[in-house]
Parts: sequence; structure tokens; C-alpha cells
Amino acid sequence: MFPNVLYEPPTSFKVGQPTDFAPETVDERFVESNGVFIVNDQGTMYALIAICTHLGCPPNWLEAQNKFKCPCHGSGYYRNGINFEGPTPRPLERAAISIDPDDGQVLVDKAQKFLWERGQWDDPSSYLTA
Ligand code: FES
Repeated sequence: MFPNVLYEPPTSFKVGQPTDFAPETVDERFVESNGVFIVNDQGTMYALIAICTHLGCPPNWLEAQNKFKCPCHGSGYYRNGINFEGPTPRPLERAAISIDPDDGQVLVDKAQKFLWERGQWDDPSSYLTA
């Protein structure tokens, strides 16, 4: 007999100090472990959830082409997560991001999501400013 336990990674996790993320970069270190890209874009940091908004495949960051590209049906997204090609009808989603007051690290929480098409990217919990 084995207990019927479903392992799921924690929705909330730290990714490092804000200075660990160079300007104008897409950090892929937390895609495999936590399913997010950390983007530092024009003085704003946000966590894009690595799930294509078409049918849920994991998109790749293509540095040379400066875009996210989904391998399943070809949806493409700009660095900021806005879709511009392929069948997806909407941008990538953001996870909540904040600074942990105890140690100053960047804290991401995937339990809270922010959708561009609902105007939620204006919510201060969806981004950090430098
Ligand atoms: Fe990404 Fe279809 S699942 S383009």
C-alpha cells in the first residue's frame, strides 16, 4: 500500500536578489524547476509563466530572435510576453512578484496570476521596478 500523495512544487519561491538579473535579459534558470521566465525589461521585472496561452505547451526563449516561440503550433511572443504571431489569442500570463522584506530577495508566487487582457498587468503585484 502506498499513500495517494500528489507532489506539486510550491507555488511561492525565491529566485535571488534583484541585482542577479541584468537589465534587458530573460532569465531561464527557473523554467524547469518552477515554470517561469524572469524578465528584466526597461527597468521593470516580471515573472512570465512558461505556458503557451494557445494550448499549454512550454514556449522557448530565443535570444537571437528576441522572442518566445512555442514549438507546438508556432505562437510567438515578444520579450514582454505580448503575442504577435501564430494561433494564440492572448499574451503569456504573469505570476505575482515582490521583494521579501526579510532578505530582500525576489519572491514569485504562481498562485496569483495576472492577465494582460484584463488590465491586470497594471497591478503593482505583477511587476517590480528598478
Ligand atoms: Fe503553443 Fe499551440 S500550444 S502554439
